[in-house]
Amino acid sequence: MCGIVGYTGVREAYPILIKGLHRLEYRGYDSAGVALMGEQDDALKVYKAAGRVSDLEAAAAPNDCSGTAGIAHTRWATHGVPNGINAHPHVSQSGNLSLVHNGIIENYATLRDQLKSKGFTFKSETDTEVLVQLIEYVEQSRHLSLPEAVRIALSRVIGAYAIIVMDRRHPGVLVAARKSSPMVIGLGEGNCEFFIASDASPIVEYTRRMVYLNDEEMAVCKPGEELNVVTLGNDAVNPDVKHVELDLDMLEKGGYPHFMLKEIFEQPQCLRDAMRGRLLTHHKRVVLSAVSDHREQLVEARRFIFVSCGTSWHASLIGKQLIERFCRIPCQVEYASEFRYANPVILPGDVVVAISQSGETADTLAAIQLAKKAGAIIFGIVNSVGSSIARLSDTGTYIHVGPEIGVASTKAFTGQLVILTLLALAIGYERGSIDKGTYEKLIQELDVIPEKMEKVLSQNERIKEVADRYCGIRNALYLGRGINYPVALEGALKLKEISYIHAEGYPAAEMKHGPIALIDENMPVVFIATHQNEYEKAISNMQEVVARKGRILAIVTEGDTVIRQFADNVIEIPDTEECLVPVLSVIPLQLLAYHVAVGNGLNVDQPRNLAKSVTVE
Ligand code: F6R
Repeated sequence: MCGIVGYTGVREAYPILIKGLHRLEYRGYDSAGVALMGEQDDALKVYKAAGRVSDLEAAAAPNDCSGTAGIAHTRWATHGVPNGINAHPHVSQSGNLSLVHNGIIENYATLRDQLKSKGFTFKSETDTEVLVQLIEYVEQSRHLSLPEAVRIALSRVIGAYAIIVMDRRHPGVLVAARKSSPMVIGLGEGNCEFFIASDASPIVEYTRRMVYLNDEEMAVCKPGEELNVVTLGNDAVNPDVKHVELDLDMLEKGGYPHFMLKEIFEQPQCLRDAMRGRLLTHHKRVVLSAVSDHREQLVEARRFIFVSCGTSWHASLIGKQLIERFCRIPCQVEYASEFRYANPVILPGDVVVAISQSGETADTLAAIQLAKKAGAIIFGIVNSVGSSIARLSDTGTYIHVGPEIGVASTKAFTGQLVILTLLALAIGYERGSIDKGTYEKLIQELDVIPEKMEKVLSQNERIKEVADRYCGIRNALYLGRGINYPVALEGALKLKEISYIHAEGYPAAEMKHGPIALIDENMPVVFIATHQNEYEKAISNMQEVVARKGRILAIVTEGDTVIRQFADNVIEIPDTEECLVPVLSVIPLQLLAYHVAVGNGLNVDQPRNLAKSVTVE
């Protein structure tokens, strides 16, 4: 959570920082701030505002925003309410140091008490202010340089951080460090400037040469000098400079009113990108380099344990069904947040599959760290290239659907499903657990699935009309069986997170064990009832709802004439192989949630209380 940006060099820092914050707003958007320094050791210029980056711009506009170095922050509150005082950057007591932070300092209360006893006072309720005062205390009491003071202060900190610090007495110098929170440094031509950010998106238009800091590393950026990286234990590090390709167009809305809608509509192309070079239709083969490179460990795996959160957890539920069906390897699906504290049994031959769009989710990261220590091989299914989970994984497959900016995950989910299908096919083929006919049929079907998705998307207007009828609802039940059960969970999550309507997903047959008590004429029930998945049984479940006057919206297979007779609204999707149904059936649910939220006048790209990348526990 929280996005940080830093710049030092030859240009005016403010426009670069503000543009960077806009790109990182998906990480948090309850308050924002910027600190600027000039080429002399003048006072720092610090501007902050509650609200969005645009509120910060309005607050800073009447002031002097000059300076060739600066740091900036967009916040997702953890300690202290979102207001101008708790917003970052925080400034040390003397006014010399300024710091932005993404993460949580767990022992901040103890440190604050210790600092108070040394005469430090605090303006905010944040853990971050404790950190800047601690650095100042270490610097003053031990007469250290700024980088040394940062390094020593961090050795006393428990928690997660990506920080950038600057000192008005050292114009142009930025010190950056990280532990369990992401950070990347862009290198300008001839090291005349440096760009620092939580991800590559604010940097990519200035330089493609980037260094991803590793955990417990610190970098000193001083224009005109080489980037200096050391571990927090003070060992020199040779920075690994990567050439990062990121499409700038993908970071813009491209004519759509919201990123979420753009990303929903991008899905057919995203799936083509995800399958490129992996689905070899003409050769009737699926090739995943991760499976070829780690053939023995994957093909002879004893068990697959999926760890993930939220939407990625729903994809994991589908992954389990695919791997069990085509590979006959037993699977287990765990919430990463539970797994990490559950003292899990990890045995030789276990493969832990981490699924994550951002690659930075703190719980998923901690779960794989634990599994790795216990000897499991980690397979990452990640979207963000170079992210922490990707780097910690022993092997894996990027989903390659491009940056997902809308807070509600859409294209990452369908990308994950396609990669999981490819993985199940590749391993099943190697194990001989999938018959040739099924394998080849699925390859053909994957090849045409983007077109079928386009067909679902072409019904957008009709789905909007249906959504308009649902804008006033306060509750909804989503039901599905088999492979459509995780889709029901995902549909319910989409609705609640962007429209704040209470929604629950259930396996359809579970309804009669409790939730059926909720059904009356005011309870909308969304059924995913396609031909393949225990269709007749799903119809019986629907009849139980009809008998209690529930209102049914059904997602059905094209040409279905039965359900139409008793459902209030019906949305059709093209027929496909059973294991690929979720890739299509989730689309109307994404659009439904989107149009209900827009119809209710809500900000779908930045829903309240949420952030795109959950880097706190
Ligand atoms: C829902 C959503 C979240 C994420 C979850 C995991 O739309 O976006 O539930 O799926 O926070 O995030 P990643 O996949 O980045 O690990």
